[in-house]
Amino acid sequence: MGRSLAGTRVLVLGGSSGIGLATAKAAAASGAKVTLASRSNDKVTAAAAQVGKSAVGVAVDTTNDAALEAFFSKQPEWDHIVVSVAAGRSAGLRDLSLQDAYGNMNAKFWTAYKTARFARITPDGSLTLVSGFLSQRPNKDALLQGCINAALESLGRGLALALSPVRVNTVSPGLIDTPIRAAMPADKKKAMLDHAAATLPVRRVGHADDVADAILMLMTNPFTTGSTLFIDGGGMIA
Ligand SMILES: NC(=O)c1ccc[n+]([C@@H]2O[C@H](COP(=O)([O-])OP(=O)(O)OC[C@H]3O[C@@H](n4cnc5c(N)ncnc54)[C@H](OP(=O)(O)O)[C@@H]3O)[C@@H](O)[C@H]2O)c1
Repeated sequence: MGRSLAGTRVLVLGGSSGIGLATAKAAAASGAKVTLASRSNDKVTAAAAQVGKSAVGVAVDTTNDAALEAFFSKQPEWDHIVVSVAAGRSAGLRDLSLQDAYGNMNAKFWTAYKTARFARITPDGSLTLVSGFLSQRPNKDALLQGCINAALESLGRGLALALSPVRVNTVSPGLIDTPIRAAMPADKKKAMLDHAAATLPVRRVGHADDVADAILMLMTNPFTTGSTLFIDGGGMIA
């Protein structure tokens, strides 16, 4: 398969928004036949229409084990799968209910684990996970998110052995301006993004396309597996 995505079957879980949607668009622009999946039928159908005529949108809640397994059981082998499903609200240790904490782990970590277990991927294909740089730079107000991301990065390395020769990599984004913060008050969000732009070495926040570029590289570079690639504007060293 090598370095080209032309004619490949690509699945993006969490493809209806943000990093997943940007990845779906980039893969389609490179000639892939893209399937996008997310919970909301309306959102995923509208997103598929944006990606292009050959794109397909599928409504599946990845926290539903039976639904996810049934989805994969009906599908032929994929060439590339990207898991970009978001967890729920972040909060500090005592502010996040245990129910929400378990739900976050379920949506983000267990989706990736179950995808690796249920999906069939061609031997020269790839699986790419999306974690986040809180794995390396913990934040007390998003404590669990850092743990989930660290678990995903470890999962990616382990899966690179378990699914070999399928290549498995993880992209770890820094602060990316996507709809993930849609519920945040606009002034608070602006202040956060402005502060990040002023302090990051690259002097701006990230865009979903910045991460999609990296994901496409990991999908197509035949000598990369077990890697975690940080796309964080220098957040790790700032
Ligand atoms: N944006 C950042 O600053 C940033 C930084 C570091 C890491 N990340 C990580 O990057 C990934 C993508 O984030 P994003 O910013 O692109 O978020 P986003 O714009 O909110 O997109 C999240 C996607 O996940 C889907 N989703 C959520 N729960 C789902 C479920 N149970 N089943 C199926 N689909 C589900 C959503 O669609 P539905 O609502 O239709 O289900 C949506 O397509 C996340 O894992 C996030 O933690 C983001």
